[in-house]
Parts: sequence; C-alpha cells; structure tokens
Amino acid sequence: MVTVIFPAAGQGKRMQAGVNKVFLELAGKPILLQTLLKFSHCTAVDRLIVVVAAEEVLFIRRALRGVSELKPYKVIAGGTERQFSVANGLKMVDPATDIVLVHDAARPLVSQQTIESVIAEARLSGAAIAAVREKNTVKVVDGNGVVKKTPERAQLWEVQTPQGFKKELLEAAYQKAAQDDVLGTDDASLVERLGVPVKVVPGEYRNIKVTTPEDLLIVEAFLREGRLEKAKEGIGSVIADLAAKVEKHMSRPMEDKK
Ligand code: CTP
Ligand code: MG
Repeated sequence: MVTVIFPAAGQGKRMQAGVNKVFLELAGKPILLQTLLKFSHCTAVDRLIVVVAAEEVLFIRRALRGVSELKPYKVIAGGTERQFSVANGLKMVDPATDIVLVHDAARPLVSQQTIESVIAEARLSGAAIAAVREKNTVKVVDGNGVVKKTPERAQLWEVQTPQGFKKELLEAAYQKAAQDDVLGTDDASLVERLGVPVKVVPGEYRNIKVTTPEDLLIVEAFLREGRLEKAKEGIGSVIADLAAKVEKHMSRPMEDKK
C-alpha cells in the first residue's frame, strides 16, 4: 500500500498573501486541492495524509468533505517545522503501508509520470527523490558575501518532491533525526544520515514549489495550458462536426443557400 503525506502546515511567509499559500486559488481551485487531486488520480496511490496547522484541521476537513474524487484521506495537525509536520503524518500512516511518499502541498504541477516513477524506484531501491539538473551556476558564499567555491554544475541536481521511501526506512530516519536533534531541509537528507543510498528520479522543471508571488503566475499559466489541452480534446469532435457542416453548406449551389 502507498500512502502520501502532504505537508501543508506552513505559513507561506515568502508569499506575503496573509494566508497559508496552499489555500490560494489557481485556475479556480485551491493549490492544496489541485495537489490532492493529482495524487488521487494516480492508480498506484492508496491513501492520503494531509498535514495542516492545528487551527486549520476542522476547516480543511469540512472543505474536503464534498470532494468525491479524493482517495481515502486523513487531515491531521502539523508542527512548527516542515520536518515535524511530516513526523506527525508518519505516525498516522496505515500499518498496511509499505511505501510512503512525501509531497509538498505547494507543488500542484507534479505529473502522473513523476509520481509513478518515484513509487517504482522507492520499491526497488528503498529511497527515491524527484529532481532536475541544475540549470544555473551555483556558488558557495560565506557570511561576508565572498565566493568560497563553485561546485561543478554537472554534479548538481535541484531536488523536488515527491520523495518516496520504504516505510521502515523513513521511520528510522525520522527517529534518528529526532534523537540527534537534527533538522534537514528535505526528507531524503534524513535518510542520507543513515548512510543509505538515495536514488534520483529525473523529474520535470515545471514541478515548481509555489513559494513567492511570481510563482503564482507561472503555475497558473501551466494549469491553464493543461485545461486548454483537455478542453481541446473535448471540443475536438464538436469542431470536426461543425467543419463538416460548413463544408457541406459551402459546396451547395447558391440558390440552395437562400
Ligand atoms: N510546511 C509544513 N509545516 C511547516 C512548514 C511548512 O507542513 N511547519 C509545508 C508547507 O505548507 C509547504 C511545504 O511544507 O507545503 C514546503 O514548505 P515551504 O515552501 O517553505 O512553505 P511555507 O513554510 O508555508 O512557506 P514560507 O517558508 O515562505 O513561510
Ligand atoms: Mg517554509
């Protein structure tokens, strides 16, 4: 069984929207819902655990109640750091789960293919993360603004979510991090601390995390593109029908058209 934990208990400070950014609507639907639907439409996914701030739990439960397309889900309270939110989610995972995915609620553009590849690689290797090759030159800079190092770009990958793990491995990683009082910037870094290899699965550049206001424009554009493609498929037959009628009309003699 595959369970996905969605950390959504942040405050979205960098978005400066005054509300948790995952509640903002894009292309007519809240970001959180867009993300949950992506995973609900994936046949390889069985359960969802949505982790929101304690004071948002009831409101989110109510908001999701009417959404019929969702896979079975729980809404639970998170913590003050993303890592604590995921840790809370991990405690609520169904015992029948063998693979746990963690996915930022703020990444609504994830593709079915990326979700499926991460699940498959996690089953095979134990730990798998979606990532894309770094496009920019990245420098290590000290506290005085002086460049210390320029890591070779060919070795750099920009890490995303989903990140997928065998359940016992992720539990061990979270337990050790808590024991050692360590905060990692992603879930895989806690697994790396166990000395366990983490496999990179090539993801997609469009799977961005909605973080600052300009990201809203980019994500909205991609979501609209997706809807347009769907709409085109839907109206394809209508247009073909119309075109056939026009053609027939045009080919009739003039007196017929009066
Ligand atoms: N998150 C969480 N619990 C926290 C902090 C973050 O569940 N205590 C979630 C966010 O809701 C988000 C994901 O982790 O879906 C990635 O975090 P980030 O992009 O940093 O979101 P925020 O923390 O909300 O944003 P900011 O750092 O700008 O305040
Ligand atoms: Mg944050």
